[in-house]
Amino acid sequence: MIAEAKSLLQSRTALRPAIGVVLGSGLGAFADELSDRAEIPYAEIPGWPVSTAVGHAGKLVVGNLDALPVAVMAGRPHLYEGYSPAQVVFPVRVLHAFGVRSMVFTNAAGGINGSLEQGSLVLISDHINLQGSNPLAGPNEDLLGPRFPDMSEAYSRHYRELAKSVATELCIFMPEGVYAGMLGPSYETPAEIRFLRTIGADVVGMSTVAEVIAANHMGMKVLAVSCVTNMAAGISERKINHDEVLETGAAVRDTLVKFLRMLLPRLDRDEA
Ligand code: HPA
Repeated sequence: MIAEAKSLLQSRTALRPAIGVVLGSGLGAFADELSDRAEIPYAEIPGWPVSTAVGHAGKLVVGNLDALPVAVMAGRPHLYEGYSPAQVVFPVRVLHAFGVRSMVFTNAAGGINGSLEQGSLVLISDHINLQGSNPLAGPNEDLLGPRFPDMSEAYSRHYRELAKSVATELCIFMPEGVYAGMLGPSYETPAEIRFLRTIGADVVGMSTVAEVIAANHMGMKVLAVSCVTNMAAGISERKINHDEVLETGAAVRDTLVKFLRMLLPRLDRDEA
C-alpha cells in the first residue's frame, strides 16, 4: 500500500521533496505559501486516512517554497478519530518512501508550564507517550527500521538549535518543552494535568507522538513545534473548547508561517 501511495504522489508532481511538514489544528495556512503546487486530497491517495477533525483540511500539498521543494500535510489523522496507530503513521511512511528525510510537525497543545501563555510556540524537546499504543507494535517491518529503535534524541538536537536561531532572529519567544501525548478526544481533567506536570510535561496534546516514533524508526530527522492554543485544564480557570483552539491557531498563523519560511531552507542546507 505504501508503494501504491508513493506512485500516486509521483504521478501528480515532478517535485521530489526531502522535507515534510505536518500542519496541526488551525495551522493550515503555510500550504498557501507554496508555488508550483500539486494539491492532492487525502481521499485520492491509496490507503491514506481521511481526517475528519474540524480545522483539518485533509490534503497533501507538494510545492516549492522559493526554490525548495516541500511536502505539506494540511491536516493529519488522529488516534481519537478511531484510526489505528498504523493508519496514523501511514502518511509519514509514504512521505519517507517518496524521498522525505526530515519532518517538521506542528500541533495545537494545552499549556501546562506556567511560564507559557495562550499563543506561545514551544519547541518540543522530548515527549511522553501516554496514548496507550505504539505504532511499531506488531511484527517489525525490517525494511523500514529496527525492532527496537533508539528514542534518546527523537527530536533532533541540531534541528532544535537551528530553530532557536531562527526564532531569535525573528524575535519569537520559543522555549523548549516536553510534550505529553494523550489519546483524547476529551480534554484532560485538572488532576490529570497535575499528574502531567509532575512527570515533567510542559504541553499536552493528542497527536504527533505516534508519527514521531514512526519517523525515528525510519531514521528521519524530526523537529516539532506546539502552538499553545489554550492553558491546560485547571491551569487557568477557563473551560477549554475547540473553537478557542482554532482561533488561537489562526492568531499565531502568520508567526508560524514566517518561522517555517526561514527555517526550512536551513534544514535543507544542513542535509546537503
Ligand atoms: N489538551 C489536549 N490537547 C489539546 C489541548 C489540550 O488542552 N489544546 C489543544 N490540543
